[in-house]
Amino acid sequence: MATISKSPAAPACDLQRIVYASAASQAYAAPQLEQLVSKARERNGRAGISGMLIYHEQFFLQLIEGPGPALNSLFARLRADAGHHRIVLLLRERIVQRTFADSAMGFAQLTSADLAQMPGMADFVARRMTLQTLTPVRAVRLFNAFQDVAGFALAGAHAADGMTHW
Ligand SMILES: Cc1cc2nc3c(=O)[nH]c(=O)nc-3n(C[C@H](O)[C@H](O)[C@H](O)COP(=O)(O)O)c2cc1C
Repeated sequence: MATISKSPAAPACDLQRIVYASAASQAYAAPQLEQLVSKARERNGRAGISGMLIYHEQFFLQLIEGPGPALNSLFARLRADAGHHRIVLLLRERIVQRTFADSAMGFAQLTSADLAQMPGMADFVARRMTLQTLTPVRAVRLFNAFQDVAGFALAGAHAADGMTHW
């Protein structure tokens, strides 16, 4: 005889995401960025966190996704990190599915010309915008455009579009 549980099933996982922008404390050169991302990947992998980091003219935009407690702990460390400041929380929400399931931390260093070519970003240069002035909707749209590319780059392939991402 089947047993019917009266309590609703607990969610398999409390999956959430955070999107924030920040200003780098100094200009990061490629080797520094590489080191930052490789450490982040190692740590995120262990914590069940995935996401993507974008760097443009001394500003960061990062999407981190994973279980709520792991995100809290990472975001607390991020806030305390002197490597960046002026952290602006753009978005925190529950999600049912990860955008970067295959990537412990995708990365892209973009020029203004790169950004202007991204979906919905044509006015980015003309309006002299920075990553910190993006609305949450535009930030998410930007990350969505990298959804496939990040998995591609992580597989060790080189992107054909000339952008620096790995
Ligand atoms: C822009 C930026 C993004 C970062 N992203 C991550 C990340 O995704 N995961 C991570 O573990 N650390 C990340 N870090 C590093 C953390 O802020 C922190 O320095 C690191 O986790 C070590 O923390 P601890 O010294 O308290 O152990 C990032 C740092 C910066 C400046």
